[in-house]
Amino acid sequence: MTHKNKREFAIDSSRLKARHFQIEDLQILNELHSDEIVVSTTSGTPQTLEETKNELLAIIDHRAKYRVAQMAFFDHGGNFIGRCGIIHRNFATDDDYSYEIRYAIHRRCQGFGIGAEMVFSYIDHIFNDPQIEIDVITAGVRIDGHEASSKILLKLGFSYVGDKIFRGNGKNTRMYELKKKEWLETDNAGTKSSQRKDSTKIAIQVIDFDSDLYQKSLDFRYKILREPLGLIWSKKDLDGEESQSHISAICNQKIVGTVVLKSVSKTRIKLRQMAVDSHLQGNGIGKKLVLFAESLAKSQGFQEVEMIARISALDFYKKLGYKTEGEEFEEVTVRSINMIKNLS
Ligand SMILES: CC(C)(COP(=O)(O)OP(=O)(O)OC[C@H]1O[C@@H](n2cnc3c(N)ncnc32)[C@H](O)[C@@H]1OP(=O)(O)O)[C@@H](O)C(=O)NCCC(=O)NCCS
Repeated sequence: MTHKNKREFAIDSSRLKARHFQIEDLQILNELHSDEIVVSTTSGTPQTLEETKNELLAIIDHRAKYRVAQMAFFDHGGNFIGRCGIIHRNFATDDDYSYEIRYAIHRRCQGFGIGAEMVFSYIDHIFNDPQIEIDVITAGVRIDGHEASSKILLKLGFSYVGDKIFRGNGKNTRMYELKKKEWLETDNAGTKSSQRKDSTKIAIQVIDFDSDLYQKSLDFRYKILREPLGLIWSKKDLDGEESQSHISAICNQKIVGTVVLKSVSKTRIKLRQMAVDSHLQGNGIGKKLVLFAESLAKSQGFQEVEMIARISALDFYKKLGYKTEGEEFEEVTVRSINMIKNLS
C-alpha cells in the first residue's frame, strides 16, 4: 500500500471527511482522549499517552478483524474533528454481542451539529458498503445526564429499545438500535428514513386508572415534574385522579410522556401533568400528547382547554395555539401562568 493510499479518505462529504486510523495518529487521538470535557460523554476518565496508544492499536486490530472500526474525521481544512465508528463487543452479558456505534467530538467542534453529521456520514458509509455485513447498529448512552447524545441518535432514526447495565462499568445505559433495512428505506417523497426528523416509534394512548401503566406513569411524572424541584406528591396532586383521563406516550413498552385531563365544568377541561422524558424532549412527543388530549377532549364535548403553564414551557404551548390569561404566579415553586385554548 502506498503512502497516498494509506491516507485515502473513505468518507468525503460537504463538511467533513474520514479515513481509518494509523499509528501516526497517536497525538491527535490522545489530545481528544485526554480532554476531560470530551471524556465526560464517553469513558469518564482522561487517558494517558500509553493508554491511548493501546486503544489505537486495538482500533487498528479491530479493523483487520471486522473490516469496521473507529475512523478519524477531519474538516476540509484538515483539522481533526473527532472519531466515530463501530466496535463489536458484548454489552450486558457474555453472549450479548452487537455492533455498537461510538463517537467523540473535539471540544472546539461541539454544539455545531457536526457530531450528528459525523455519525450520519459514518452510518451511511457502513450501510451502503456491500462488503460490510452489518444489519443492525446499536448505541448505548449512559443514563446519568447525556441527553444530547440521545437526541442525536433519535434524530438519526435510532429507536430506543430499553435499558441495560453495561458489564464493563456497571452503569445503567439507555440502548438504541438502527436497522440497515430502515436506513435504506425511502418514503414516497424519496426521503430516506434516516433523514426524517421524527422517526421514533411512539404510541399515544389512554391508560386505565390503577393499572400497572398508571403506576408507572406516576413514577414517570414524579421523576420529570416533582423530583427536580425537590418535592414529593401532595394530596392536591393526586386527589380525584380516578375520574380523570390519563394519557401516555409509550415507546417499546416504556412510558416516555404523560398528560392528564381533568374536567372543570361541562365545557371546560384542564390539561395537567404534562411531561416528556428528558432524553427525548424536542422530538415532537409533547406536541403529539397535547394534540391527542385535545381531540379526546373535543370528542367528549369539551370546548375549551385550560392549564397552568410553567413559564419555561410557555412558548411550547403558544406554538400549539394557547393564550395566556392574567399575571404570572408561583405554583409548586415554579413561575407559572394560566393559559387557555378554544377547541372550536
Ligand atoms: C415542555 C415539554 C412537555 C415539551 O415537550 P417536547 O416533547 O419537548 O416538545 P415538542 O418536541 O413536541 O415541541 C413542539 C414544539 O415546541 C417547541 N418547544 C418545546 N419545548 C419548548 C420550550 N420549553 N420552550 C420553547 N419551545 C419549546 C419545540 O422546539 C417544537 O417546535 P417546532 O414545532 O417549531 O419544532 C417537555 O419539554 C417537558 O416535559 N419539559 C419538562 C416538564 C415541563 O416543563 N412540563 C410542562 C409543565 S407546564
